[in-house]
Amino acid sequence: MIIALNNKCNLTKEEFLQYKEELNKIKKNVKLILCPSNIYIGFAKVTNIELGAQNVSKTVSGAYTGEVSAAQLKSMGVKYCIVGHSERRKYQYETDEDINKKVKLLLKEGITPIICIGEEKKQRETNSHIEVITKQIKEDLKNLTNEEKEKVIIAYEPIWSIGTGLIPTNYEIKEIVNVIKYHLPNTKVLYGGSANENNIEELREISVIDGYLLGGLSLKPEKLDIFLEKVEN
Ligand code: 13P
Repeated sequence: MIIALNNKCNLTKEEFLQYKEELNKIKKNVKLILCPSNIYIGFAKVTNIELGAQNVSKTVSGAYTGEVSAAQLKSMGVKYCIVGHSERRKYQYETDEDINKKVKLLLKEGITPIICIGEEKKQRETNSHIEVITKQIKEDLKNLTNEEKEKVIIAYEPIWSIGTGLIPTNYEIKEIVNVIKYHLPNTKVLYGGSANENNIEELREISVIDGYLLGGLSLKPEKLDIFLEKVEN
């Protein structure tokens, strides 16, 4: 079971240091990956928690002001990197082509990409969600070898579920995870979107899920502890 913590653009330095102490105390009976803001990566190491990033540049190192390259992330001990989060697709206009470039650069550095895919509410309502997901898989992983495809992690995050408290039914999640696994049979798949300590008992019934990508809950160590306790019991 993989649990990735996406802190997004949250926590000041003092808050992060406090948060890190609290994370240190929680039970770690699963594989935990912490993805803090880039500026904290240098001091984000917590015992038994792997280090992840929230984004990477689509270019190699060089004259790209403000960017952070895959090689730089690697040199800081980063083992995982979220790519193509819907917030980046929406606010930073990231395309599937950009995401594909990032995935390849990360793989080259030995960093595991956590590729986010998911449909908008309207796409689900018009029954085009499977088509949307399939297109994202094809384009984000374009020209990857089978071996490389097995190295990435896919996070299914329905956009309408992120931070809203709305969550698809287990049947709906299972349907999408099965579509992903049809195309990528040996690739791990996470679910993300309003997962918390209250709905995990129901979510964990979906046996095809390999883990979760947590946003809001990642910032609340006490509740995260309850989630982790329940996730495998
Ligand atoms: P929430 O858990 O806050 O819904 O966010 C999910 C997410 O976007 C993780 O990447």
